[in-house]
Amino acid sequence: MATIQMKVRPEDLSQVEKGGERIPDPGILVIFGASGDLTKRKLLPALYHLRQNKLLPANFAIVGVARRPLGDEFAADMKEGIVEFGGGDASDPILDEFASHISYYALKFDDPAEYAGLNAELDRIDKEKNIGGRRLFYLATAPEFFAGIIENLGAQGMAQPEQNQVAIVIEKPFGHDLDSARELNHKVNAVFHESQVFRIDHYLGKETVQNLLVFRFANGIFEPIWNRNFIDHVQITVAETLGVEGRGPFYEKAGALRDVVQNHMMELLSLVALEPPSSFEAESVRREKLKVWQAIPSIPILNAVRGQYGPGIVQGEHVIGYRDEERVNPESGTETYAALKLQIENWRWAGVPFYMRAGKRMRKRATEITIQFKQPPLLIFNRMKSSGPCQEIQPNLLSIRIQPDEGIALRMGAKVPTSSQMSVCPVYMDFDYESAFGKSSANGYERLLLDAMLGDQTLFSHRDGVETNWALYTPIIEAWAAKKPEVFPNYFAGTWGPECSDRLLEKGDHVWRNELGRKA
Ligand code: BG6
Repeated sequence: MATIQMKVRPEDLSQVEKGGERIPDPGILVIFGASGDLTKRKLLPALYHLRQNKLLPANFAIVGVARRPLGDEFAADMKEGIVEFGGGDASDPILDEFASHISYYALKFDDPAEYAGLNAELDRIDKEKNIGGRRLFYLATAPEFFAGIIENLGAQGMAQPEQNQVAIVIEKPFGHDLDSARELNHKVNAVFHESQVFRIDHYLGKETVQNLLVFRFANGIFEPIWNRNFIDHVQITVAETLGVEGRGPFYEKAGALRDVVQNHMMELLSLVALEPPSSFEAESVRREKLKVWQAIPSIPILNAVRGQYGPGIVQGEHVIGYRDEERVNPESGTETYAALKLQIENWRWAGVPFYMRAGKRMRKRATEITIQFKQPPLLIFNRMKSSGPCQEIQPNLLSIRIQPDEGIALRMGAKVPTSSQMSVCPVYMDFDYESAFGKSSANGYERLLLDAMLGDQTLFSHRDGVETNWALYTPIIEAWAAKKPEVFPNYFAGTWGPECSDRLLEKGDHVWRNELGRKA
């Protein structure tokens, strides 16, 4: 395959201004649900990397909160997690120094009487470390505890909406349908002002997701063709090779639509489709994203398909089907795959189909956005009687690889030099993050935690956005719940999903692009 690698020149990189990074003011980060996987695998490794990169203030504290009586065990366990999941070195002195800022407080989330004790403990730490009252609460518990914790913080006077000292980060899922999301938003805003609320979607912390905005708005060449006149259709794929990884009870209630499509994929879609914001400030970016979501008409049920994986072979390994996973109903109707066709009814996108699919236990792990451009008006080369394998002219494609092998590739047609005839072959211009900038260890949470500590809401969801997306998906969720699928499982693990998802595209004369991944 002919590929032109795109390179960063060292002299250009050295021109990029070093330093100038913002460091948050002193503060206490209070993590509710601290004994869970998220804290150990993602949050603490991310905080440790921030510490390594000197992006945390000198006076800071991390207080883990959960029901179990853990005491000092907690900090030791977090150190292990940093080594195992965050690439930390057990003998690194920064790790010990970092761990000295971690403590633990045992509390029953739903017992209001216990919050006074937590408040007193935070005051004590605050005084000892001279922190000055700044607190960031992080809800990493099961979602059923969110509302109770928020109410209890409010009742204890710990939310302080009138001062600019306290904020709250709320993990997904933010509700399970439109009504529950509205109710939760209502409860959150009864205690916290919207400017204190950080609804997290870890996709927005990914470098390549942020690069989408840079790619679109720091380069003049794409904007003129970024519309219905030049773009034929857009595909967004979030394919995972993993199954439900022991999260059966959670996944049974969620399914692919709630777990990934309604949030992560809609964020990706909005960044592909939004109008240029007037600035990179939270309000401007959020406003433009919201306009995209609001322009999506309700999705006809025939334009949504679902699937569930049966047993199969993933990357050479035999794996069990979804219904045989631990703590999953053997007759489960939960979808592990969802695909949709939707439209954005505005001047830029009218008539351009957006196809989205997300699935577990797929053939390959790949999160990718593909923009397929329209063919030239006259395919003069196709008319020539040439022979050889490359004669069919393929449309230009822009593939944005979110993960793995983060990068961007543009497919073009080029003449095959040795051919005596006019044969055209696809070639790629491929920009690869790792070879250009070196591998980044960031897991998305680093950037988002830092932004939340700095009070920057740009990469966080606003209540209006969350509700607009739930309004779009709730009818499909309800229709699917009302009618159990007749043929589940309908795809083998290790494949590209059920056949019915191909039919979704055939109507528009399109096909799913399954050659995902690096082009070089
Ligand atoms: C989470 C979902 O939000 O995103 C998981 O709950 C999914 O089911 C994960 O596996 C995917 O995230 P990433 O960063 O691995 O693409």
